[in-house]
Amino acid sequence: MTKVLNIAMIGGGFMGKAHAMAYATMPMFFWPAPARPRLKTIVDVTADLAETGRQRYGFDEASTDWRSVVARDDIDVVDIVTPNDSHAEIAIAAAEAGKHIICEKPLARTGAEAKTMLDAVEKAGVVHMVAFNYRRTPAVALAKKFISEGRIGRILSFRGTYLQDWSADPNGPLSWRFQKKIAGSGAVGDIGTHVVDLARYLVGEIVAVNALVKTHIGSRPVQSGGFDQLAASDRSGKGPRAPVDVDDEMIALVKFAGGAFGSIEATRNAYGRNNFITFEIHGDQGSIAFNYERLAELQVMFASDPADARGFRTVYTGPAHPYGAALWPIPALGTGYGETKIIECHDILSAVVKGETPSPNFRDGYQISRIADAILRSGEEQNWAFIE
Ligand SMILES: NC(=O)c1ccc[n+]([C@@H]2O[C@H](COP(=O)([O-])OP(=O)(O)OC[C@H]3O[C@@H](n4cnc5c(N)ncnc54)[C@H](O)[C@@H]3O)[C@@H](O)[C@H]2O)c1
Repeated sequence: MTKVLNIAMIGGGFMGKAHAMAYATMPMFFWPAPARPRLKTIVDVTADLAETGRQRYGFDEASTDWRSVVARDDIDVVDIVTPNDSHAEIAIAAAEAGKHIICEKPLARTGAEAKTMLDAVEKAGVVHMVAFNYRRTPAVALAKKFISEGRIGRILSFRGTYLQDWSADPNGPLSWRFQKKIAGSGAVGDIGTHVVDLARYLVGEIVAVNALVKTHIGSRPVQSGGFDQLAASDRSGKGPRAPVDVDDEMIALVKFAGGAFGSIEATRNAYGRNNFITFEIHGDQGSIAFNYERLAELQVMFASDPADARGFRTVYTGPAHPYGAALWPIPALGTGYGETKIIECHDILSAVVKGETPSPNFRDGYQISRIADAILRSGEEQNWAFIE
């Protein structure tokens, strides 16, 4: 009999939808499933939002009190999909109650805050994961496989970007993502950390950064209602505005512990770029390039190819590639964001059942938050910042 794990989800917004979909569909892809997730309780800030989440995502119960929910004996896994300012408080309480935890990224607003979460899960001995899901894109995992097998040799350089335009319009609403007390930082924490995760996953630890960090749009219209309205259609710019106190663009030079160097860029002002997560990695025996906007494809160039056939080739990920057996039977049928969350869901539940530490975990989340702090510090001081 497949083990059942009871899930409590805290937050029912964008990521609540993504994670709920993953719990519902994971056993359809990964069978036999490591465990069958049972959507026990969803928590949100108002009874209305929680009940909407319950009905929409198929939870048994709805609540507005995460403290009592994480303390319940019948909850196995706490899934934190709230804005960044509540991650630490919820995770620490969940760890103290002995719950396994998956927490959305960035783990916390600062490295110091992330450290309190790492300490709590390590003390409690629970399984923990931070939801940097892009590394679970099959083409990204294939890049990792090629690098691990030495197919492009010693890594010389990494160039990574995360460019978006959802907030390029100065009349887009002042979401929590533009408020330091909630988000911690702007493009650095929100999307730059995804590239940092990919860089560490593919190349290794980052030990120093030298960054330019800027806020181009200094104020935005105050949004009405208590929840995020990123997709709000009213962009008239009428009504009161309030200051944006986080960055919206950064460019950083990075040095890796293994000797490679490179760059990381993140902006939410790049008109025409939607989810432009890219990397290009050069080794002394070949190159790899990836663009999330064509996420089923990996571009590879092997220097060992015959001289008359040298050049980038496109590999369409499918059954022959990482996670391929669980996904779709033919390459290029189309994988998307949902599949990365389904794989992530499989991997956290598998780790819980086996009592293993998955990757990326809170230690990775802590390290990534320290690197984000270093990028912000470097931007302020206009100098190299080192991460010991
Ligand atoms: N991995 C990814 O690709 C990805 C993408 C988007 C967001 N995120 C991260 O996911 C987290 C949530 O982002 P989102 O886009 O879902 O935000 P959102 O604003 O769409 O949803 C957040 C939800 O949490 C609820 N909430 C807020 N405080 C709460 C509390 N104390 N208790 C219970 N519910 C509470 C809100 O009412 C809302 O329903 C953030 O940390 C964000 O950085 C990750």
